[in-house]
Amino acid sequence: MNILGIYGSPRKKGNSEVILDEVLRGAEESGATVKKVSVRDLKMSGCRECGGCDKTGQCVVKDDMQKIYPLFEEADAIILSSPIFFYGISAQAKAIVDRAQAMWAKRILNKPRDQWKNHDSGTGYLIAVGATKGKNLFQGVELVAKYFYDALDMGYGGGLFYKGLEGRDDALKRPDILKEAYEFGKKIASGD
Ligand SMILES: Cc1cc2nc3c(=O)[nH]c(=O)nc-3n(C[C@H](O)[C@H](O)[C@H](O)COP(=O)(O)O)c2cc1C
Repeated sequence: MNILGIYGSPRKKGNSEVILDEVLRGAEESGATVKKVSVRDLKMSGCRECGGCDKTGQCVVKDDMQKIYPLFEEADAIILSSPIFFYGISAQAKAIVDRAQAMWAKRILNKPRDQWKNHDSGTGYLIAVGATKGKNLFQGVELVAKYFYDALDMGYGGGLFYKGLEGRDDALKRPDILKEAYEFGKKIASGD
């Protein structure tokens, strides 16, 4: 199984990276092939809404997102990990999500309407971390993740959601979270 982890925080070794790394470690130790990209390393823009992909199924913007499209194609599972920024995912992670519009455009061009939403290209997961304890803290990001994976023709498999983590080392100090993350990675790799 090929698993792609997308680390969506601009903060190096932030909480969402520590947790994602544990998930990926669990998956790798269960036999999965794991790749990880970090949004902070990518030089890319958001979607320009230029309509270029509607004509060709390819994004016309030539930046680092072009390295991500092939990773989408080969992944059986994708795990997006992001901090909560104003009840959404980070702007950098959202740029990747918005640029997935080209994947949706490609399917519309190449497949008959009844095959637009098979959700048979694998499963997507979400890890989200916020500082506060707001009741609806993860509502917005879960919807974004669902429709991101929909654009990739993937099902949404749920995720890990943690409130009350703020300082950079807060997740590192929580062995319960790290264990849960490791086990989640094993579960993903087992295809459960
Ligand atoms: C720009 C910005 C916006 C934030 N907005 C929220 C928010 O709406 N709700 C919340 O609970 N935490 C918010 N936070 C706190 C982060 O989600 C929290 O510190 C998280 O642990 C950061 O994860 P990271 O270490 O993976 O980057 C915000 C932080 C920043 C920098």
